[in-house]
Amino acid sequence: MEFFLDTGNVDEIKEAATWGIVNGVTTNPSLIAKTGRTQKEVIEEICSIIDGPISAEVISTDKDGMMKEALEIATWHKNVVIKLPLTEDGISACGELSKREIKTNVTLCFSSNQALLAAKNGATYISPFLGRLDDIGHDGLLLIEEIRQIYDNYGFLTKILGASVRHSDHVRRLALVGTDVATMPLKVLKQLFGHPLTTSGLEKFLSDHKNSQ
Ligand code: G3P
Repeated sequence: MEFFLDTGNVDEIKEAATWGIVNGVTTNPSLIAKTGRTQKEVIEEICSIIDGPISAEVISTDKDGMMKEALEIATWHKNVVIKLPLTEDGISACGELSKREIKTNVTLCFSSNQALLAAKNGATYISPFLGRLDDIGHDGLLLIEEIRQIYDNYGFLTKILGASVRHSDHVRRLALVGTDVATMPLKVLKQLFGHPLTTSGLEKFLSDHKNSQ
């Protein structure tokens, strides 16, 4: 299972990069807006920190506009992945980009049929939003399980990228159902390390060592 950071904050990415477990980064227009910088600046800096897939999202809503933006973004760095919304135009642009062997991440996926459409047009990644479904009382994990089964039934190579991850138990559950990638904020990545028995056990080892000197 790959871990991506879901952020535009380069300080957070630098911190997590030192642990050696971050395989890529996802951004979206809201995360880029928080930085107060241009998308190009942020994406290029992220590409200099992490050597892995870095998702940058288009803003256009029509296919021609998406293609124009995508082809420009694709020149920024070899690791950039074009993030497209799950609309008719987004799926169509995804098909065009796949033919040109440009990597894509189809985002804002909330149903299995949407995930099927993205896979049919050769999306590199599909991003189902786990947390936002849970927020409205739906079972986000059930969606991921269904997509896993559908992709396996037909041998689709599109990777399932579990997004909108809110806490460490989401990561555990994504791993249990065979999700290819989990993208998460730094806060959630840090939660994966923690266990009270690790903390208290280490304290005891260190105090026993100190007392024996
Ligand atoms: O970038 C897509 C996704 O991870 C957004 O998460 O927390 O805004 O629902 P969130």
